[in-house]
Amino acid sequence: AIPRPADIFGAQRRNSKGWDITDPVTLAEVTEERARFDAPHQWRAGAGSKTRAVVNPARPMEIVGEVSEASTAAVGKAVDAAVKAQPGWEKTPVATRAAALLRAADLYEEDAVEFFALCAREAGKVLADGVAEVREAADFLRYYAGQAAEVERHTTARGVIACISPWNFPLAIFTGQIAAALVTGNTVVAKPAEQTPLIAARAVELLHEAGIPKDVLQLLPGDGPSVGGPLTADPRIAGVCFTGSTDVARLIERQIAETADPDAMLIAETGGLNAMIVDSTALPEQAVRDIVASAFQSAGQRCSALRVLYVQKDVEAKVLEMLTGAMQALRLGDPALISTDVGPVIDDEARDNLTGYCADMEKKGRLVARLDTPSEGRFVAPHIFRVEGIGEMEREMFGPILHVATFAADNIDKVISDINAKGYGLTFGLHTRIEVRVQHIVDGIHAGNIYVNRNQIGAVVGSQPFGGEGLSGTGPKAGGPSYLRRFRKGEVTALAP
Ligand code: NAD
Ligand code: ALA
Repeated sequence: AIPRPADIFGAQRRNSKGWDITDPVTLAEVTEERARFDAPHQWRAGAGSKTRAVVNPARPMEIVGEVSEASTAAVGKAVDAAVKAQPGWEKTPVATRAAALLRAADLYEEDAVEFFALCAREAGKVLADGVAEVREAADFLRYYAGQAAEVERHTTARGVIACISPWNFPLAIFTGQIAAALVTGNTVVAKPAEQTPLIAARAVELLHEAGIPKDVLQLLPGDGPSVGGPLTADPRIAGVCFTGSTDVARLIERQIAETADPDAMLIAETGGLNAMIVDSTALPEQAVRDIVASAFQSAGQRCSALRVLYVQKDVEAKVLEMLTGAMQALRLGDPALISTDVGPVIDDEARDNLTGYCADMEKKGRLVARLDTPSEGRFVAPHIFRVEGIGEMEREMFGPILHVATFAADNIDKVISDINAKGYGLTFGLHTRIEVRVQHIVDGIHAGNIYVNRNQIGAVVGSQPFGGEGLSGTGPKAGGPSYLRRFRKGEVTALAP
């Protein structure tokens, strides 16, 4: 039911063994690779003092590895080492830095199957999402490598950058932040999300193997309060590149204002309350396919995911009937199976928060349709609830939960102003065949990424620079032509906007 990335974007990508790493079906067919995928693994991350087991969100009894988290004292030591490494790395020719990124992209693709296995077992990602992770991470590495020389010409490196990333893109966003900071001559102390340290550790191993010196890129696994907070509070940090929730971004912003150099950089990519409008001229089959992908792919655990769907009253009954039918066809379950469309949510806290919310909405009589939630594992079944409008939504519900509202054709401006009034501005989707309406709505909506007559997830590096406005983020768009500039000090005049 959910289109595979290869279906959406068309291109194949083969590794040196000749198999198409952009197609999860190929993985099922390449026996030797599938055996590697299925082999029991015990991954490890970190060399700290506090050791804990990492479990599979689909089967919490299965231990997939172990992480030794960094202590707060280790944060200062990592920054010491990065400060010492900074002058040497800055002087390293940009071509050498870029070549290391290109080599890393090749290594990621060679090792794609291990990343697919890690993404499934540590992050609960279905195979299509694991494929998209490797693909996007490699795209970031190659795209930033290709741009670095131009940005370098008129500017200087900043220094030590703290890269703080979320669990929902444990490879792609983790790699994108680091790649941008490194290729522009900065050293990096990276703190991955506490839920996904094993993927981060494997990525850092490959980046080191590709030629990035160990003190230039250091990994500090651990949680926000004991590692992330002290890292962003270190006055020697020249900038923070953060992706995660709006609440944590606010904390970090305050922290930087209090302790860091006044010129310190902050890039914050945060959450969203994303809407889609479907009018009566939309092609219902296409709209429904895109709604299902936008709301339920990755179990709705994407910042870009659709949360509130506005359907024009005249077509509401038809769209809802098709939508609930399409939802019933989704298969929930083990992310390691090729047949699974929707995997688990990341942890017990996420599951309890989402199921509590769904129970409340059901009690209020808002349920339109839902699937059954498996009793074992951290699963939340897709749900559809009715709402009056986006104004009712208090916060981003980070899971497979779609809210549906209706509108009348003469009321579209009110819908636009209600969406804007929430203050977020990440993604927005529109299905219509009226050209002037496209222009009118696109002009009115405040969102970083607007998608017309397609789904609203899965921005492609280089073609769809990704980032929001308002409560959804501050800074240049990732995977776009301006991103690297922010990692350097000084003016660049010769670049595209
Ligand atoms: P989160 O904010 O809880 O955590 C993100 C990172 O911040 C983690 O590494 C965490 O350990 C760290 N952190 C927590 N407290 C900290 C502190 N006090 N100081 C420094 N670091 C701290 O977010 P999450 O649950 O990992 O990710 C989901 C959120 O991320 C959602 O809101 C989603 O919308 C957002 N997101 C945004 C984008 C985007 O590009 N805009 C992309 C992916 C995810
Ligand atoms: N870049 C990711 C997407 O577009 C967040 O879904």
